[in-house]
Amino acid sequence: MIVVTGATGGNGSEIVRLLNERGASVRGMVRDPERARGRLPAAVELVRGDFDAPETLAPAMRGAQTLMLISSADPALPDRELAAVQAAKDADIERIVKFSVIAADHEPTFGFGHWHRPVEEAIRASGLAWTFLRPNVFMQNLFWFTDPIKSDGVFGLPVGDANVSVIDTRDIAACAAAVLSEDRHDGQAYLLTGPEALSFQQQADVLSDVLGRRIHHEDITPEEHKRRLLSFGQSEAYANAELELDAELKAGELGTVSDSVKRLTGRPARSFRDFSEDFAQEFRPEVAS
Ligand SMILES: NC(=O)c1ccc[n+]([C@@H]2O[C@H](COP(=O)([O-])OP(=O)(O)OC[C@H]3O[C@@H](n4cnc5c(N)ncnc54)[C@H](OP(=O)(O)O)[C@@H]3O)[C@@H](O)[C@H]2O)c1
Repeated sequence: MIVVTGATGGNGSEIVRLLNERGASVRGMVRDPERARGRLPAAVELVRGDFDAPETLAPAMRGAQTLMLISSADPALPDRELAAVQAAKDADIERIVKFSVIAADHEPTFGFGHWHRPVEEAIRASGLAWTFLRPNVFMQNLFWFTDPIKSDGVFGLPVGDANVSVIDTRDIAACAAAVLSEDRHDGQAYLLTGPEALSFQQQADVLSDVLGRRIHHEDITPEEHKRRLLSFGQSEAYANAELELDAELKAGELGTVSDSVKRLTGRPARSFRDFSEDFAQEFRPEVAS
């Protein structure tokens, strides 16, 4: 039995779906099983568990052998996931696959690595078998900008013309499902990237080509980006982590391309063009009927 946390999230729900498709026994740990029921395959067992109520975690894991640990990008991530690692030990879990982030092992840590690194270290020290998945920036982050793209054909990020090997979350989920279904990944940390490194203007150019209208990346200042994040309700800590990540990205640190998706799933990672074609409708202005 595999327990997947964050099972209603963007990555977790796809991992649950793929594991179910492979015929694995899957249990989704969710805050609200009733709300989650319609969003996940019927064969998937659902159990209530809340990272912020640590006493719910070990009971949610009991009887399973493997934990797929995913939680939100939130300043509470270290506390939440450290509690989950302790609960996994208490519940006699044998193996943890942790959803981490690119460069979580970078010295010194930056951006979201500050949150994931202590959890990776605790898992290494736990005595349990482990695998770390360290994805680069998601292609799906572009959904944050669907409104300005639809209305003005523009999205703003403080990253200049640096290249980044963005990855489609569907490929991350496929890698996770492969790792969770096989027993040859213990002690491995996989950098997961897309098949090429593109600047955000190059991504905009691909999207322009697919949509048939001009989309433009605006190179905004970090201050402007922070102001926008705070106005969308993000916390100061989240905004600071995001700006640190953007600074590394702008310095060209997130352009490495790995072949992990191909090695783990047997097929090449989806390109940004694949993503743009599959989700073109999300970025098209609504036509009044
Ligand atoms: N965005 C990027 O480019 C990027 C790149 C690399 C790594 N990452 C990492 O990706 C992870 C986020 O993955 P995602 O985008 O798939 O997440 P997501 O869509 O934001 O989903 C988060 C999941 O966590 C659950 N959750 C939130 N608080 C909870 C709590 N207190 N107890 C139990 N469950 C809780 C949510 O459940 P509810 O449905 O109940 O809210 C949801 O299922 C983060 O660790 C982030 O650092 C992100």
